[in-house]
Amino acid sequence: MFDNPAMLVQKNVPLQAFNTFHIVAKASALARIASESDVLAVLADPDWATEPKFVLGGGSNVVLTGDVKPLVLKVEIMGRQLVSETDKAFIVEAGAGENWHEFVSWTLVQGYPGLENMALIPGTVGASPVQNIGAYGVELQDRFDSLDAMDLQTGQIFSLNAAQCAFGYRDSIFKHSSSSNADKGQKALGLKDRAVILRVRFALPKLWKPVLGYADIDRKMAENGISQPTAKQLFDWVCEVRRTKLPDPAVIGNVGSFFKNPTVTAEQCADIIGRDPKVVYYPLADGSIKLAAGWLIDACGWRGKSVGQAGVYEKQALVLVNRGAVDGSDGATGGEVMTLAKAIQTSVYERFGIRLEPEPVVV
Ligand code: EPU
Repeated sequence: MFDNPAMLVQKNVPLQAFNTFHIVAKASALARIASESDVLAVLADPDWATEPKFVLGGGSNVVLTGDVKPLVLKVEIMGRQLVSETDKAFIVEAGAGENWHEFVSWTLVQGYPGLENMALIPGTVGASPVQNIGAYGVELQDRFDSLDAMDLQTGQIFSLNAAQCAFGYRDSIFKHSSSSNADKGQKALGLKDRAVILRVRFALPKLWKPVLGYADIDRKMAENGISQPTAKQLFDWVCEVRRTKLPDPAVIGNVGSFFKNPTVTAEQCADIIGRDPKVVYYPLADGSIKLAAGWLIDACGWRGKSVGQAGVYEKQALVLVNRGAVDGSDGATGGEVMTLAKAIQTSVYERFGIRLEPEPVVV
């Protein structure tokens, strides 16, 4: 039980260690949330009950463009366990504050494969459903069972299944404000800043099969002469591929892919192929086509370029990096990152007629 709510909330807290871009910014006020009773203590405190709140997980999907005015809820709820079994799956639960990659490693050691393709994605378990993380042919929604969250107005705990999370490509109900669809006449259902995720449950298949078919992974299979890898082999290969292509946020500040891969119609794609035959694209089941945003940005000459201390990563143009130190010194501001992002969007639009959409949340 928390008996002194005032102690829970700290003022003027530096955030550079709490966002993987390592951008220097402060939270006007921050509460570390180790359990649901900590959320209830904040909600019971008249100073904070009705104040706007911002939920921060591992900070791996945010760009801080200034000090954060809403009360930051820094989620540190831990714990991981097998909670039940069905004929087909192990249902494994983890606290929202658990580190994603460590959780993935743990599931493999316990004998519950299924998350290996998503190894080494930065961030926390609680952030994983927010943007429906994914890599090498597996998305979170493929392995998701359900989650528990707390309503930040009423303090009530509720559970959501996959359909209720409204997963899309790097998207979910947690990325939308309740009013964001109102202009389309749709019922407003967004949970952005309205709920805090407490625990997430995953359904990990008992009849596990490797998910293959990605060029980088196929190459590893050929190099090793293996056609049916184990989950641990896949895990190791995914880690190796990511370490060669993507910057480690502990060394170079970044938030992974900065833009989503855009989807276009077959006609638009044919038009682009006509002008740029080397464009990288993937046909989708519904007839639309996904383009590799990294290729589009690279083709516009952005790889290695910078605005101030914000840069385009030399080995993967989809990733923007902070060229300063990880302690935040001499680093990029959120403004520099966004200026660079806008310049990239403009040049990709002018050359290809495609509007790139950022993946992270801009605060
Ligand atoms: N490419 C270039 N130049 C570049 C970057 C990429 O030509 O500077 C080309 C590559 O050669 C490749 C294609 O673009 O042919 C796609 O690149 P890659 O395989 O690296 O994947 P991606 O589409 O850029 C997506 C996810 C990654 C995920 C990988 C692997 C998104 C926005 N990104 O990247 O997810 O790890 O596929 O599945 O969907 C993330 O979301 O933070 C993330 C890293």
